[in-house]
Amino acid sequence: MPTSLAKRLDVVQPSVTLAMNARAAEKRAAGVDVYAFGVGEPDFEPPAFVFEAARKAMETKPGVSKYTAVTGIPALKQAICARTAEMRGWTPKPAQVTVAVGAKHALFNLAIALYEPGDEVVIPAPYWVSYPEQVKICGATPVFVETSVEDGFKMKPEAFAKALTPKTKAVILCTPSNPTGSAYNREELQAIVDVWKTKSDSWLIVDEIYADLVYDGFKHVSAATLAPDAMDRMVIIDGVSKTYAMTGWRIGWSIAPERLAKAMDTVQGQSTTNATAIAQHAAIAAITGPQDEVVKMRDAFAKRRDVMVAELNSIRGVKCRTPEGAFYAFADCRSLYGIPYKGKPIANDEDVAFWMLDEANVAAVPGGAFGAPGYIRFSYATNEERIRGGIASIKAAVERSKK
Ligand SMILES: Cc1ncc(COP(=O)(O)O)c(C=O)c1O
Repeated sequence: MPTSLAKRLDVVQPSVTLAMNARAAEKRAAGVDVYAFGVGEPDFEPPAFVFEAARKAMETKPGVSKYTAVTGIPALKQAICARTAEMRGWTPKPAQVTVAVGAKHALFNLAIALYEPGDEVVIPAPYWVSYPEQVKICGATPVFVETSVEDGFKMKPEAFAKALTPKTKAVILCTPSNPTGSAYNREELQAIVDVWKTKSDSWLIVDEIYADLVYDGFKHVSAATLAPDAMDRMVIIDGVSKTYAMTGWRIGWSIAPERLAKAMDTVQGQSTTNATAIAQHAAIAAITGPQDEVVKMRDAFAKRRDVMVAELNSIRGVKCRTPEGAFYAFADCRSLYGIPYKGKPIANDEDVAFWMLDEANVAAVPGGAFGAPGYIRFSYATNEERIRGGIASIKAAVERSKK
């Protein structure tokens, strides 16, 4: 039918979080104080000098009202390369960098440039929701590798090796991870990279968007430093959204071998052209300016993590591992199954999430959305008082439930 919608969307999951957010918004509109543990963005503001740089860019002529180069302003690409050298321990060339409208868009450019029907893309579960959906939009097939809390939600090399086939087009790793906060240490990552290098000729895509948010002295290791001989098929994804609390500015990037970077330039050149000029100037300031605000944010997140994890573990039967990074606590909430809710016993993580929202005014994301039924993701991008208040509210709801 000429007026039908594209079939490629039939396989894409509508987001459960949207339904949750809609319910949370209704409650807020009715004057209820909802604890927002569902959010995927820092509650901080970027450093003041970021705004200053944006203002200055607006006043400078020719200002920010013209297109930039598709792949980004040269000064930003250079700053990204210098930052990658300093913070991640390896030095890409500016020609490898494509500045996109956020890291999600960088991943989408990559998906269009790489995935075709018949391709398999290996993704460890729990995973960030957009990875499999982008694969499916392109008609390719996500292949999940299950991980367990006992293994810190990290892939075992043997399980990973089993998932690789001649059809594997790419592997997507996220470290530190959304939703679990888990991060691979050097040995663990080396083992995974070695399996990939020797057992597969696919691409390795590593999402390092949370790499600056790691705690207790944990050292983030970039996969790019572990396979210098395989850099012709590795892609690193990064951006300013999480590190500098700049989600709304929409600046992220890919660092890829030049052949792939050129393909992505073609994709982006036919879709968004460049990322917004003013945001690129702001990103240059964020990356090249003093980093003390980042350290402050990280220290605050570390404290909040400890509070969130301890509080979650104090809810009857709930179990939560201490994550190495990001700003999410991923808790096993199966002990709450059976609590009566709307005339039926709670039977899955989605029920738990809606029950928490209705009975405790807590918004958080059910694990099924991330390929981990039974779990709930609690974001601690909110202050300690709110964390304590929200968990106390859940505990009170559990006590009331008379399960
Ligand atoms: C793992 C991961 N990658 C990428 C992104 C996208 O970041 P951006 O805001 O730069 O598009 C997110 C945002 O939630 C994320 O959690």
